[in-house]
Amino acid sequence: MRILGIETSCDETGIAIYDDERGLLANQLYSQIKLHADYGGVVPELASRDHVRKTVPLIQAAMKDAGLNAGDLDGIAYTAGPGLVGALLVGATVGRALAFAWNVPAVPVHHMEGHLLAPMLEDNPPAFPFVALLVSGGHTQLISVTGIGEYTLLGESIDDAAGEAFDKTAKLLGLDYPGGPMLSKLAQQGTEGRFTFPRPMTDRPGLDFSFSGLKTFAANTIHGNGNDDQTRADIARAFEDAVVDTLAIKCKRALEQTGFKRLVMAGGVSANRTLRARLAEMMQKRGGEVFYARPEFCTDNGAMIAYAGMVRLKGGTSGELGITVRPRWPLAELPPVA
Ligand code: KG4
Ligand code: ZN
Repeated sequence: MRILGIETSCDETGIAIYDDERGLLANQLYSQIKLHADYGGVVPELASRDHVRKTVPLIQAAMKDAGLNAGDLDGIAYTAGPGLVGALLVGATVGRALAFAWNVPAVPVHHMEGHLLAPMLEDNPPAFPFVALLVSGGHTQLISVTGIGEYTLLGESIDDAAGEAFDKTAKLLGLDYPGGPMLSKLAQQGTEGRFTFPRPMTDRPGLDFSFSGLKTFAANTIHGNGNDDQTRADIARAFEDAVVDTLAIKCKRALEQTGFKRLVMAGGVSANRTLRARLAEMMQKRGGEVFYARPEFCTDNGAMIAYAGMVRLKGGTSGELGITVRPRWPLAELPPVA
């Protein structure tokens, strides 16, 4: 089975073709980062327009890379939510129209299920059950996963997502949008322990997160200590250590609560090297295993949508003919796949 995946939920146009026997046949990605950098964040209307410009040419490029023609595909998967409504509508419209023209099923995919399943694209895919830590620009969630579509939300952020906290703190440190990766780079020059940030909500039971206080803490620390290069690096280090520590504490709790031995991390922030190393070390100590995708499959991409679409199509999912997207869409609402 061969599926074309279309991702247009935010600021990257991702197009990929996945073959269940041969693996990934093509993977095209266009990032709009430069377009939004001047504004310090994603401008929805500009994002939609750029997806309109890029989606079809990238599909053509992917088909060429894979050496395929229209008749060679078995389905088209597109991100139907959550995300920016205008951006989602571009992928949904192109996906639906192509599926209609090529007479193959169109499969609406949940963006976070795409992230969650991205580690399955790697050589050592996780088996069920596992705890998933989903950390992206819009979500911070701990989920119990017992099968495809068998998702129970264990905890989530009550305010900013982890990636959002990275980006906002990066902005305070004078870094461009999206500052998460750059803040992490700066943190490598930082002195451990010069500043200590709080570990929000770790002093009480439960698996929810709160990250908005950390950016305020960063703002106050910048205000009180000046803005020279070393201080900025030290603040970046303290911030990153606090986020990583907080995520690790809650992952440990979720593993204890569920009794699961596998931890899957996914979403843009799972590309963070300090977080990957910290959770790998924790899982080794616990006699368990951690799973994550290669960095380019942690952030938004078409491959995870093609893969999730294939799993869903095999499980019998196929949307109605209408073009509907869901800017808000709880992951736990997805039906299980037998
Ligand atoms: O999953 P993603 O590409 O898009 C969403 O679905 O939101 O995640 C993007 C987020 C951004 O906030 C970005 O700053 C963050 O992931 N991110 C990182 C790193 N790479 C991406 N944050 C910290 N360290 C990184 N290495
Ligand atoms: Zn994403």
